Amino acid sequence: MTLPNRPKGETKTVRDPEVEEREVDMLIVGGGMAACGAAFEVRKWMSDDQTILIVDKAAMERSGAVAQGLSAINTYIGDNTPDDYVRMVRNDLMGIVREDLIFDLGCHVDDSVHLFEEWGLPIWKKTQEGKNLDGKKGQSMGTLKSGAAPVRTGKWQIMINGESYKRIVAEAAKLSIGEDNILERVFIVELLLDADKENQIAGAVGFSVRENKVYIIKCKSMLIACGGAVNIYQPRSVGEGKGRAWYPVWNSGSTYTLGMKVGAELSMMENRFTPARFKDGYGPVGAWFLLFKAKALNGLGESYVESDAAKAELEKYAPYGTAAITPTCLRNHLMLFEMQEGRGPIIMDTVSAMAKLGEGLSKRELRHIESEAWEDFLDMTCGQANLWCATNTEPENKNSEVMPTEPYLLGSHSGCCGFWVSGPDYDWVPDAYKVKADNGKIYNRMTTVNGLFTAGDGVGCSGHKFSSGSHTEGRLAGKSMVRYARDHADFTPSINQTSQELVDLIYRPVRVYLDHCEYTTADDINPNYIKPNGMMYRMMKATNEYGAGTATFYTTNNKNLEIVMELLHCMREDCEKLAAGDLHELMRAWEIYHRIWTVESHLRHIQFRKETRYPGFYYQMDYPNTDDENWFCFSNSKYDPKTGKWDVFKKDYIKIISD
Ligand code: FAD
Ligand code: ADX
Repeated sequence: MTLPNRPKGETKTVRDPEVEEREVDMLIVGGGMAACGAAFEVRKWMSDDQTILIVDKAAMERSGAVAQGLSAINTYIGDNTPDDYVRMVRNDLMGIVREDLIFDLGCHVDDSVHLFEEWGLPIWKKTQEGKNLDGKKGQSMGTLKSGAAPVRTGKWQIMINGESYKRIVAEAAKLSIGEDNILERVFIVELLLDADKENQIAGAVGFSVRENKVYIIKCKSMLIACGGAVNIYQPRSVGEGKGRAWYPVWNSGSTYTLGMKVGAELSMMENRFTPARFKDGYGPVGAWFLLFKAKALNGLGESYVESDAAKAELEKYAPYGTAAITPTCLRNHLMLFEMQEGRGPIIMDTVSAMAKLGEGLSKRELRHIESEAWEDFLDMTCGQANLWCATNTEPENKNSEVMPTEPYLLGSHSGCCGFWVSGPDYDWVPDAYKVKADNGKIYNRMTTVNGLFTAGDGVGCSGHKFSSGSHTEGRLAGKSMVRYARDHADFTPSINQTSQELVDLIYRPVRVYLDHCEYTTADDINPNYIKPNGMMYRMMKATNEYGAGTATFYTTNNKNLEIVMELLHCMREDCEKLAAGDLHELMRAWEIYHRIWTVESHLRHIQFRKETRYPGFYYQMDYPNTDDENWFCFSNSKYDPKTGKWDVFKKDYIKIISD
């Protein structure tokens, strides 16, 4: 889709926007990997008299975490088993996971990968002689489905030429449901509960970021898949560089805020992902560790993970720390340990890795490997390749620093926060893992709100789904959504609020701005309002300093948490005074609102869990160790939309797959 021919600058807001009302059976909010999977699957199961709509705040071809493309698919089961997949995820997430959800995903994920290949995604292949073939050469070896072997980087990851990955997946979703059933550049602000049926989803309200228009959409069932939460902490990059983060800057916690505000139960929101990345460019490390077999060194040039001190640290977290693959949080923990002992910075030894890979290779083959190193970033994090150019870094000649970044909240990558959802309706799935709907039936991936589903970053207690698994989970949820809508064919959604009330809510920041903008000469300085940018700095300062951000080496404690919770509470109140002079700012206003709610729930969970379950991601210094005796359980929370009160409580972990 090409951008419309617009005059320079953002579209100014007007006091009274146009209103468009719609009603569909199934509504998908978000247009990323999970949403595209859902759209594709819904089309397969829906009947001709059912209707569907997908709403994305951006343009689906390049929206969400896969916008820039990717260079690997991190979840492909292949010759492994779903049981083993569960074991891997369980170990990486320090033991407390929903094994039903992970197993279910593991059984289906390869089908999505086969579809991607069928739709045109080039997947690297291994020849019988052990050579790697990428691009067209790889494609000529046949498909994975027909038995061709992928190039494995690790046990679960396979290499792709993935610059156009998202375009390919979005195209399939769009073709499935048709352009008429897609709204792009519409930001969803709030979900709406049914006026008559308790705890039943009935619709959503949002606005166009291209024209002054509010959308009110009613539905029988809904999927929220707006990705994770980025920029809830002060990023390490400052100034102009702030537009760059590891996870996509556009994912502002909408999934969590939208769902929690209508009372959907959250789980493991204390979990976060603090990724170790190439410093300042956020280049991923997976290909370097796994494919190029590079080592991380400390400032003294030592391979610190092999030291006795590192081994002793890991022993403390047995059996996870001593497992064959060290969990992601503990890999960070070792880095932070080195830095705090004065042996930083951490360096990725690209030079030795490239030299070793080049042994016995012809010049041509060597050049190919060098270009693969660049392509890894050009495919998914091109800012890192730019930084290498700007700093005269040729990875075969100059090493690069690696650094733990600011924290992110997500449920699809190496983190597991999100909603408590129903597992599949199999007899081996414990009852406690099934969420019963109003009609007594079980709908896979439904949240605790009837008719409200989620997938990808939205589903908690699992993780390590990545792009392929998020697509798969969207498909699982999509299929259930159709069934839910069909089983509730006689349900007519009705909402409490009038259209005018909803417009007044969504356009409040616009009116605040228009009422007061003449008062001062500087548009962003005004005693009567706060611009979203100012609120962003306020939130980031608070979370960074008190909420275990980079400022305190990811540490916090009871007192700090008390302070930050009070600050966030005030910020939520002050959001009434957010002001938006144009449509872009209106989006920024609602994004920061979503971020504040999301990060507050994260910190509320950290406050509740009296242990440090994920050392390396964060440290609760009043309880610096893991405490299996008291805390080997899920922590769940629920916001009551009627009373405005929170409840945080424990839920039992049930082991399904043996060690
Ligand atoms: P996303 O794909 O992020 O989609 C979220 C969608 O929600 C977007 O369309 C967004 O526009 C929309 N949205 C957000 N808020 C709103 C709102 N309020 N209203 C309407 N729409 C909204 N996975 C791999 O398999 N291999 C890799 O190598 C890999 N590397 C990665 C590298 C990077 C730099 C990143 C960022 C991610 C990587 N991943 C990788 C992970 C993978 O991209 C994610 O797991 C996956 O995209 C999550 O899917 P999702 O649908 O939950 O979210
Ligand atoms: S990416 O998705 O942004 O590319 P990343 O580079 O961290 O993420 O990881 C890619 C894959 O490699 C993930 O499956 C991750 O768990 C795995 N991985 C990264 N580093 C290591 C490591 N040192 N050991 C084992 N697995 C790793």
